Amino acid sequence: MGNERVWVEEAWAKSLDKTLRNTARIGSGFPHASQGGVYDLAEPAWWTAGFWPGMLWLLYEGSGREELKALAQACETKLDEVLDGYVRLDHDLGFMWTLTSIAAYKLTGSEPSRIRALKAANYLAARFNLKGRYIRAWNPWKEGERNEGWAIIDCCMNLPLLFWASRESGDPRFAHVAEAHLDKVLHHFVRDDGSVYHIVVFDPETGERVGPQGGQGYAPESAWSRGAAWAIYGLTLGFHHTGKPEYLSAAMRVADFFLSQLPDDHVPAWDFRAPEELRDLRDSSAGSCAASGLLLLAEKLGGAGAGADVGAAAAASAAKYREGGERILKSLYENYGAWEDPVEEGLILHGTSNYPQGTNIDVPLIYGDYFFVEGLARLRVGRPMYWE
Ligand code: GLY
Repeated sequence: MGNERVWVEEAWAKSLDKTLRNTARIGSGFPHASQGGVYDLAEPAWWTAGFWPGMLWLLYEGSGREELKALAQACETKLDEVLDGYVRLDHDLGFMWTLTSIAAYKLTGSEPSRIRALKAANYLAARFNLKGRYIRAWNPWKEGERNEGWAIIDCCMNLPLLFWASRESGDPRFAHVAEAHLDKVLHHFVRDDGSVYHIVVFDPETGERVGPQGGQGYAPESAWSRGAAWAIYGLTLGFHHTGKPEYLSAAMRVADFFLSQLPDDHVPAWDFRAPEELRDLRDSSAGSCAASGLLLLAEKLGGAGAGADVGAAAAASAAKYREGGERILKSLYENYGAWEDPVEEGLILHGTSNYPQGTNIDVPLIYGDYFFVEGLARLRVGRPMYWE
């Protein structure tokens, strides 16, 4: 290992150490955002429920610490009440069961885990709107709300569950649904300059596009950085699972936009087009998610480990995305890590969950921590992650 990689091992060791300490309080709970140094524990039905167990699986793989595996399995079992309860499930089935049941199945061969993930995939596929050819995002947030026509960029990360289910069952229908949704994303979410919409509304009866809707970004036409991160990573995973070059080129367009917008410390503002006075506020979770996606994108273009005879342009792009991903992770480690703070449970400071709603602003977020650890795992061992 060259000197330039010493920081990766240090960051990994500190992440493992802090997580082991956190297990004493968090156990098999579902942390979401850290307030005043303490992770709040969310309902198991909340979309973030997979990230803590997913991080436990990653760290278990890297350390062999059996207590981490046992807690990840306990989280997965607790999620049965959500899967069996059905009514609280939305499109985030992918986030939740990829990092629990698919991870468990891949690592242990557990048959109950395989069945859970197949059930989750069936529920996700059932949210497909045939006329509009999109996966419906959420259920009504309040009595009487009609959001049957809403699709959101985040869903790109839910699709690996469907690609996995097609491979596992031999039935291509799941992958067909995922591809149809990704095609919608290409044509309706990714703008020419590589920025993306968060929410696009369709008429659920006719499938016609109604238009963009404000979401977690500053405005409908702004550039929410975590949305861009979901697109970079989700489109790259779409290419990984299908080989369709249009997903790869769209992922590159978003990646180029994302990298071009980063400030000097390489960690994104929560919205690249927020008014200047709001742009000092960062979203470290967008940084870590994009970084892990950029590392995969680099690999797909023939970067380290591909071993193929790649063209010069693809090799240059691969180097650009790999270096971009590494730079973000290194800055998160050096400038955003809460390593020396014994009363902070979060690993990575300064995430922004939902600025327009005023919730969880400038705090550690469990998905920021998860993707930071995942990015490190990519740099350390370069093996496929649970989404692949
Ligand atoms: N998927 C919701 C978020 O990114 O906040």
